[in-house]
Amino acid sequence: MTRQRWTSRTVFVLAALGSAVGLGNLWRFPYLAGKYGGGAFLIPYLIALVLVGVPMLMLELAVGQKMQQGAIGSYTKLHPSFVGLGIFALISSFIIVSYYAVVMAWSLVYLLASLRMNWSDDAESYFYQEVIQISNGIEQLGGINLPILLSLIVVLLLVYFCVWQGTKSVGKVVKYSVPLPVILLVFLLIRVMTLPGFLTGWEMYLKPVWSALLDPEVWTAAFSQIFYSLSLAFGIMVAYGSYKHSDDDIAKDTWITALLDIGTSLFAGFVVFGVLGYMAWRTGTPLEELAASGPGLAFVVFPEALSLMPLSGLFSVFFFLMLLLLGIDSVFSLVEALNAAILDRYQQLKISRVSLVMCLAISIAGIIYTTRAGLYFLDIVDHFVTSYNLLLVGIFQTILGGWIYGAEKLRRYINQVSDWQVGKWWNISIKYVIPLVLTTLLVTQLSKDLKIPYEGYPTWALGIGWAIALLPFLLFLFLLLKNKNKIINIEDK
Ligand code: PHE
Repeated sequence: MTRQRWTSRTVFVLAALGSAVGLGNLWRFPYLAGKYGGGAFLIPYLIALVLVGVPMLMLELAVGQKMQQGAIGSYTKLHPSFVGLGIFALISSFIIVSYYAVVMAWSLVYLLASLRMNWSDDAESYFYQEVIQISNGIEQLGGINLPILLSLIVVLLLVYFCVWQGTKSVGKVVKYSVPLPVILLVFLLIRVMTLPGFLTGWEMYLKPVWSALLDPEVWTAAFSQIFYSLSLAFGIMVAYGSYKHSDDDIAKDTWITALLDIGTSLFAGFVVFGVLGYMAWRTGTPLEELAASGPGLAFVVFPEALSLMPLSGLFSVFFFLMLLLLGIDSVFSLVEALNAAILDRYQQLKISRVSLVMCLAISIAGIIYTTRAGLYFLDIVDHFVTSYNLLLVGIFQTILGGWIYGAEKLRRYINQVSDWQVGKWWNISIKYVIPLVLTTLLVTQLSKDLKIPYEGYPTWALGIGWAIALLPFLLFLFLLLKNKNKIINIEDK
């Protein structure tokens, strides 16, 4: 069987960029920048990009491209005892995709509601009471919210049609789904720049507060944001790299993807803070109180601002279409990471069949987030997966690539196929800087979560979060120890 391939280099970059650019660029980055020092935040952010983001992205792409397998196969080829690392990454991917798809389902509901601006009376109660119909607490499941479930099914059907022919269909989709949301963002920016107050918003976004640089929290936020934004440690970039030819360029593609991703974040910040500035002007609420992240930004603050501005219906359609397109390529990149591992293992299976089963499995796993307590579960799961799973996989990836297989060996491969040569700094980053940074983030997070239970959720609920991080990690450790003999065998040879 010949391996699936990207139809061109541009298509590969678009697909990787599509995965990287997502909700994180819109509802996490601008908020972090505003909160952690405005323009000064760019310093830790860019340092994180160069020290950790780019080298790790290069590692993942190189490993996939060299080994020509998805995450499980590639890591096993680096060293057989690390078979569990790919499994760990992919379990995490499955968990993420099942709630990320639900956020897309909310976006779809809003896209349809945009035509009538259903939220114009009270955007906050529209989101919480009408759309997600939130229950009083996580212990009250409150049954499934049918419109959201239906919307989730539609989203996964869309995702299915993006991935059903693997790289062939993904390649066709990303040509539109990656540039289009950026074009919509440009329209939104132009709209925002004609509204009063936007400059005050920009001031909060860009005015540097240098003292922020002394706060360790600012640095940890910058490093984890880079990691999350580049979709690292979930097996995606390994799978995407494995669909390139083994002599394709790596270094340039990595830099292009990473720079365009952070470029989109910076750009989105102008839209978000422009809108916040306008809201502050219009409602008299201080900017600091309006600044929000996550669902609160996309489904409460934005809808409210949109309803206040002239031509509101049109721009609401633009906004929610953009949100949907922004997220959908991240969703299907996760599906692709999972599909790659299955198709590597069972080569006789059809891509379309595997995709169908995967989308079905995701919709079943997503049901919990379509209940009336869904947002609470989403919040907990998101917190644990993007803190612990991501950091743990990241740390062991660098140990495997940098120490066990050998950073120098990988660097030689990268340089053999790339126009731009990568210096020895890369080895230092992979072997020392990244594991050190990630371990620091892990310890900081752990001590925070052990001291104060996350958001005050009940113990059983947080137990689910801990289990999501710990169980796949224990499985990984178990497989590592079980296959230890293989280490000796290999070294004997
Ligand atoms: N990179 C995506 C974003 O910025 C998030 C993501 C992380 C998507 C991991 C897939 C996997 O929104």
